[in-house]
Amino acid sequence: MFRIGVLVSGGGTNLQAIIDRIEDGYLSNCEITSVVSSKEGVFALERAKKHGISARCIARKAYSNTEEYSSALAAHFEQENVDLIVLAGFLTVLSENFIKRFENKIINVHPSLIPSFCGKGFYGLIPHEEALKYGVKVTGATVHFVNGEVDGGKIILQKAVYVQDGDTPEVLQARVMKEAEHIILPEAIKKLSMEK
Ligand code: GAR
Repeated sequence: MFRIGVLVSGGGTNLQAIIDRIEDGYLSNCEITSVVSSKEGVFALERAKKHGISARCIARKAYSNTEEYSSALAAHFEQENVDLIVLAGFLTVLSENFIKRFENKIINVHPSLIPSFCGKGFYGLIPHEEALKYGVKVTGATVHFVNGEVDGGKIILQKAVYVQDGDTPEVLQARVMKEAEHIILPEAIKKLSMEK
C-alpha cells in the first residue's frame, strides 16, 4: 500500500476528494494513514474520523516558530512511515529542514494556474479575488511538489477552469475546487503511487 499523510487547516474538501477516490477504487493501492490539522476543531478532522482515518491536531500556535513546528510534524510522519505527504488546504509554512527530510515526497494543491496568483500571501480565497481583479478569463488549479520556494516546486498536474460573468471570489473558488482541485489532486496521487 502507498501510505499517505495529509495536512489540513480547514474544511477539507480536498481531503474528502482523496477519501472518495480511495473508497471508489480509483486509488485502490493507497491508504491515508493519518490526517493532521494545524488548527483545532476544523471540519477536515471530522471528515477523517467519519471514514475511520486516524486524525489529530498538531496546533501551529502551540509552537514558537516554524522550525519547532515542522520538527513535530516530521517526527509524526516519520513514525507513520508515509510515502507521500499531501498539503490539502494546509495554510502554514514548513521549514527547509522538513522539506529536505521528505524531498520529492510532499505535494500541494494550489487554487490557480501557477505561475499566476501564487507565492507568499496567495492562499484560500485570495488567488480568486486577485484573478477576478485582474480580469483573467481562465484560471484553475495546480498540483506541484513542495520545495523551499512558496508554490515554486515542479508542477505535476494543472487544470483550467473558465471564469464566468458575475463570478464572486466564493463562486469561482467553488467551481475551481469542483472542476479542478478535486480532480487533479487524486490524479496526481495516483501518478506518484504508480511510480513508487
Ligand atoms: C483549497 O482551495 C486549496 O487549494 C487552498 O485552500 C483551499 C482549502 O480547501 N490552498 C491554498 O491556498 C494553498 N496555498 P479545503 O480545506 O476545502 O480542501
